[in-house]
Amino acid sequence: MQIPLEARNVTVKAGFKALLSSVSFRAHPGEVLAILGPSGAGKSTLFKTLNGSGAPDGGQVLYGADDLYSSFERYRRQIGYVPQDDILHDALTPFDVLEYTGRLRMAEGMEAEAVRSRVAQVLGQVELSERQHVKVRRLSGGQRKRVNLGVELMTSPSVLFLDEPTSGLDPALEEKMMELFRRLAREGRTVLVTTHVTENLDLVDRVLLLCDGRVTFVGQPRQALRFFGVEQFSDIYSKLTGKGAEYWARQYQTSPPPDLAPAVRPAAPAARAAASSMSGKTADELLAELEREMAREGKK
Ligand SMILES: Nc1ncnc2c1ncn2[C@@H]1O[C@H](COP(=O)(O)OP(=O)(O)OP(=O)(O)O)[C@@H](O)[C@H]1O
Ligand SMILES: [Mg+2]
Repeated sequence: MQIPLEARNVTVKAGFKALLSSVSFRAHPGEVLAILGPSGAGKSTLFKTLNGSGAPDGGQVLYGADDLYSSFERYRRQIGYVPQDDILHDALTPFDVLEYTGRLRMAEGMEAEAVRSRVAQVLGQVELSERQHVKVRRLSGGQRKRVNLGVELMTSPSVLFLDEPTSGLDPALEEKMMELFRRLAREGRTVLVTTHVTENLDLVDRVLLLCDGRVTFVGQPRQALRFFGVEQFSDIYSKLTGKGAEYWARQYQTSPPPDLAPAVRPAAPAARAAASSMSGKTADELLAELEREMAREGKK
């Protein structure tokens, strides 16, 4: 199932304070959309509003043509959400965590054997088979992140929200994870990821710059550099805070870059083929590489 997502004038308030102000954008199946912005910009709030955790005070969240909050039952199982905070229980193993998730979330009446076989499959997908019986507290940061990701992959969701999934990883690992997200997207998922790390943005399809709860830019990464008149992504932050969110939001509304291409990127077979020829590696190969790096990291 491929699900395009749209935020239409989404507004969220806490008392009199607007945490999100009329946020509008689309996210497409097949693409990775990175949400960037200073701490407190509203990224996690946006994720919670988009994934069904809490309806907005104004505006609409659309999954396809449906309002998410009136059709939540229909989409519930299609949504994967890895929150910013680590929610793993230290004393459990990756196997326990995934099996528990399977029993909780997968179709009722599913045989225990079928759940275990799915667990094995997902452990392979996130390359944690060898660490499946190690207690979570003994895993490296990157491995824990992958357990969290595995939990969400158990039900093979069509929409993935990953809130800072790469924070605390070394740069090489961060890059590998970003490549993995791209693979997951190219299989037809709509993938949204928040990040503070700006080194690997060439691996995402589009970026959304959020500041003070406002959208100040949506477009391809290189267009963002041009829009803000900077050479590096890290310089966007000082530009944003310098003139303020309101200025840039207005700038984006009134004069978006002339060459903003329609950013629809369907996961058509041709697009998938092009994607896989880009790095020439399969998802399995990338994951295996990731695992080797994790192992190296663990030995340090
Ligand atoms: N339930 C709440 N009630 C009141 N204010 C809140 C609530 N949740 C978040 N906020 C405020 O909303 C703003 C946005 O928070 P949010 O967690 O969405 O930011 P963020 O962009 O994810 O930041 P970070 O990069 O630090 O994770 C912050 O000022 C925060 O204090
Ligand atoms: Mg956050």
